[in-house]
Amino acid sequence: MVLSRELLQPDNSDEHGIKPEQLNVVRFRELDRKSEADLKALFELLTHPRNVEHFSKPPSDYLNLRDKLIRDNTKVYLAENSLGEIVGGGGINDAQEGEHDHWLVKVAVKPDLQGKGIGRQLVVRLVDEAFNTKTSDGRDRGKLVVSVIRNVDGWWRMPKLLGLLDFRPLHIMMEEVDVFVQDIGKTVKQPTERWEIRKIEWQHRRQRADIKRILSPRNGNDTVAST
Ligand SMILES: CC(C)(COP(=O)(O)OP(=O)(O)OC[C@H]1O[C@@H](n2cnc3c(N)ncnc32)[C@H](O)[C@@H]1OP(=O)(O)O)[C@@H](O)C(=O)NCCC(=O)NCCS
Repeated sequence: MVLSRELLQPDNSDEHGIKPEQLNVVRFRELDRKSEADLKALFELLTHPRNVEHFSKPPSDYLNLRDKLIRDNTKVYLAENSLGEIVGGGGINDAQEGEHDHWLVKVAVKPDLQGKGIGRQLVVRLVDEAFNTKTSDGRDRGKLVVSVIRNVDGWWRMPKLLGLLDFRPLHIMMEEVDVFVQDIGKTVKQPTERWEIRKIEWQHRRQRADIKRILSPRNGNDTVAST
């Protein structure tokens, strides 16, 4: 007996069981450091076995994560889809006064939803936030820098996304960082590379017509809400 796709999947989910509503970021909000649910959601994103290799010194638990965010003065944002699920997160880490760089950090998308356009929506919102707001001590951010750990599984995804958004690779191999590699069960040193974009470059990028397509989820549903 041959069953049609509609009978097998009566709802509008794809062959992996993912619904279009899951891919549409409708809410982008600041993580509440007092909320256990928010901290746990970010902790899960950062420490999931498929994401953890992309971060050096991952937090040991959600309270440790909260302490690190406070100590490093990192402002984190969470992306929610129209089902209310937290599907991604990322942060802005500001240079201390007298230093130059402001960093995009802790960017991660829920593993089963990766490669479907959530990262694009998330990073655009984060960069908008970085350049449209000031630091806690009232400074403008003129430039944003991202450090990517090379050589771990899927490391190229973030550079691909950054290139699409006109970040420039600095082509400098920076210091190596310690990364726990799941496959071999031990910590190894991995090189990193840096990407950056200036505020003026981002303003130009934001005006290009293809930004609407970039902000559309990969399944053709292009209703991207702005909150
Ligand atoms: C990097 C990351 C945030 C991107 O988010 P995402 O939702 O997967 O990204 P998008 O779907 O918007 O796609 C970005 C690009 O990466 C590629 N990509 C991302 N995930 C992919 C996957 N699982 N398989 C194949 N390609 C993938 C896409 O091809 C896409 O390029 P394209 O638009 O030209 O096709 C996400 O993959 C992630 O959380 N990775 C693990 C953590 C990490 O690396 N964080 C960055 C630390 S600096």
